[in-house]
Amino acid sequence: MEKKIVLLQKHHDKANFNSETPLLDNYIIKQASQDVRKDLSACYVLADEENKVLGYYTLSSNSVSRDDMPEDLIRKFPASYSDLPTILLGRLAVDIESKGKGYGVHLLMDAMERCLALSEQLGILALVVDPLDQSAVQFYRKFGFILIPDTGKMFIAMQTIRKLI
Ligand SMILES: CC(C)(COP(=O)(O)OP(=O)(O)OC[C@H]1O[C@@H](n2cnc3c(N)ncnc32)[C@H](O)[C@@H]1OP(=O)(O)O)[C@@H](O)C(=O)NCCC(=O)NCCS
Repeated sequence: MEKKIVLLQKHHDKANFNSETPLLDNYIIKQASQDVRKDLSACYVLADEENKVLGYYTLSSNSVSRDDMPEDLIRKFPASYSDLPTILLGRLAVDIESKGKGYGVHLLMDAMERCLALSEQLGILALVVDPLDQSAVQFYRKFGFILIPDTGKMFIAMQTIRKLI
């Protein structure tokens, strides 16, 4: 049975989380709970039976400038939408001991499903990620994310997610 992904809670053990990406490790260890309390992000974790965090991701509402998006995507949108509504998958990481077991893809699909559910309640054009390095770009490309020129960010349109899930 697939492990459940739930909102980060007090009982989750994240003290030794190590994805070999210090920025993402420090975030879950030191900052995630505060950001959640301040309504800056929602943090979802995949944990084992002892509540040890094996992987996590965060979601926040977000927008991208119309000028940054590819012409073929925005052509059909009214010009009055200067900023386009998106969801930011701010962080995604899996602990080194759990890498290569499909948890990364499980977390990403869970994030996409959540965005799909949200998109029935508010307008969301796309899911956006901000890959930390070239390896992360390769990971997201595998799942259909497209680079947003000049920003380093990538996106996948909600319409594409709808077909995927
Ligand atoms: C990227 C990351 C989340 C992947 O997690 P994971 O649990 O090891 O990945 P999975 O086991 O679910 O792998 C899913 C697929 O992606 C591939 N993959 C994993 N990491 C990859 C990478 N860096 N580049 C390209 N493909 C990758 C796997 O080979 C697998 O493909 P397959 O099913 O065809 O074999 C994890 O390696 C990580 O935490 N990296 C450091 C932080 C990071 O880069 N986060 C993402 C950007 S912010």
